[in-house]
Amino acid sequence: MQVYFTNSEEETIALGRRLAQELPSRAVVLLIGELGAGKTTLAKGIVHGLGAGEPDDVSSPTFTLVHEYGEGPRVYHVDLYRISTAQELDSVGVDELLDRDAVVLVEWGERFPHLWPADRIEIHLRRLDDDRREVKVKPGVSGHGPENSSGWP
Ligand SMILES: Nc1ncnc2c1ncn2[C@@H]1O[C@H](COP(=O)(O)OP(=O)(O)OP(=O)(O)O)[C@@H](O)[C@H]1O
Ligand SMILES: [Mg+2]
Repeated sequence: MQVYFTNSEEETIALGRRLAQELPSRAVVLLIGELGAGKTTLAKGIVHGLGAGEPDDVSSPTFTLVHEYGEGPRVYHVDLYRISTAQELDSVGVDELLDRDAVVLVEWGERFPHLWPADRIEIHLRRLDDDRREVKVKPGVSGHGPENSSGWP
């Protein structure tokens, strides 16, 4: 697990850009943290880092639920905050997004743990004060990370 600290919105965007360089072309990234923790801000940097759009193009998909960025390699940005029933969840079409060769960024996805593949990446954001955030990156649990490079389970 990697832990970072940022001291401004700009630093969180810059961190997102940096993390984007480490992402495989197909990935599910859960952005986990309270309201205002910086999930959407980090998504701005990730989208930019992947070359799929400018940070200012990225806004919260709170009402539209899914935003799509980029041509060719695509980034989907999903916000499940307003979703509570299985029927509403179906209407978002998350399953279908997961089948695509794309990076899928998800806010409030931890509320539906059964949806996500074992090799999802979890990024936990925590507000330390007005401008300071802790950002913890947990690689997927399928054992491809450096913590388990021995070849043994
Ligand atoms: N270090 C920082 N990193 C990120 N955002 C910061 C930081 N310091 C202050 N902020 C402010 O915190 C807010 C983060 O908002 P953002 O929309 O990214 O949060 P969120 O986690 O997506 O919230 P929501 O659950 O409402 O979608 C912004 O207003 C931003 O300017
Ligand atoms: Mg948000």
